[in-house]
Amino acid sequence: MQPIFAPFPATRLRRTRKSAAIRDLVQENSLSVSDLIWPVFVTEGDNHIEPVPSMRGVFRRSVDRIAEAAREAFDLGIPAICLFPYTPADKRTADCAEAWNPGNLTNRAIRAIKAAVPEMLVMTDVALDPYSDTGQDGFVVDGEVVNDPTVEALVKQTLSQAEAGADIIGPSDMMDHRIGAMRDALEAADFQNVMILSYAAKYASAFYGPFRDAVGASGALKGDKKTYQMNPANSDEALRLVARDLSEGADMVMIKPGMPYLDICRRVKDQFGVPTFAYQVSGEYAMIQAAAQNGWIDGDKAMLESLMAFKRAGCDGVLSYFAPAFAAHINGV
Ligand code: PBG
Repeated sequence: MQPIFAPFPATRLRRTRKSAAIRDLVQENSLSVSDLIWPVFVTEGDNHIEPVPSMRGVFRRSVDRIAEAAREAFDLGIPAICLFPYTPADKRTADCAEAWNPGNLTNRAIRAIKAAVPEMLVMTDVALDPYSDTGQDGFVVDGEVVNDPTVEALVKQTLSQAEAGADIIGPSDMMDHRIGAMRDALEAADFQNVMILSYAAKYASAFYGPFRDAVGASGALKGDKKTYQMNPANSDEALRLVARDLSEGADMVMIKPGMPYLDICRRVKDQFGVPTFAYQVSGEYAMIQAAAQNGWIDGDKAMLESLMAFKRAGCDGVLSYFAPAFAAHINGV
């Protein structure tokens, strides 16, 4: 629907940009702390915290420190936290058995957060790359990332996370039919209310570089992930993936990375009208931080503008490493 548009000077579009008050009054989108999911990295140790060098302001934390950080984040209004483990090298094996160990880092962190701040939503990552000796998200047989055996392992990983108390399962692996298999297993094991936020349209992207450092997966990875992650040139395929994952029982869907794929966010929201999230990934975060550190851009303003872009593109929420900084900014601390 086009608005009635009288010719100049009857129409002067600058009238509604004249003051802060009128700009605020006609603002179309808004972003609040309650729109954010905070991705965090968990590592072994007690009372231990260490910086991730490529991501200024991001840390790996031991389980006890994660629980404390979750409490602070929830108090600032952040409703959800998403866990990624830095698995010790000796627990990265060909069979990836650590992925469904009830006592692995992620599962211990889920329990600790749920004990410290039960109201906070805890989201997990389902994929084998933090546990494999190849850095790939699935089992590798004769050089190929094999689908169906990987899905069986992902189901075991999912159930161990649900048993530990996860609220939202986040499969980031991009295997075919993992959502259906996970949903069936959750129903059968009496986890009817455990949600699945599917990484439905996940692209084979250069913007994951700092993350692979953060979880210690960059050294191992040979080759690429193009046989399962999407080709950045494609857009219709993203809609097929979202439709497929919804039909298999995903409650919410994600587009990843974020800023280079805002067109996909908009198409997904328009087409399906389901809870839609974007992941502002490690490389996007690192670029803004690096430019800010050099004094080339205003880091706070770039953070706010980049996060608002997701709301404008139709997203209901965003996974962002900026979550605590944004919350602190909004709360004036
Ligand atoms: C792997 C996974 C990745 C991210 C989340 N889960 C990296 C990859 O696919 O290699 C990236 C997140 C980020 O870059 O912030 N399952």
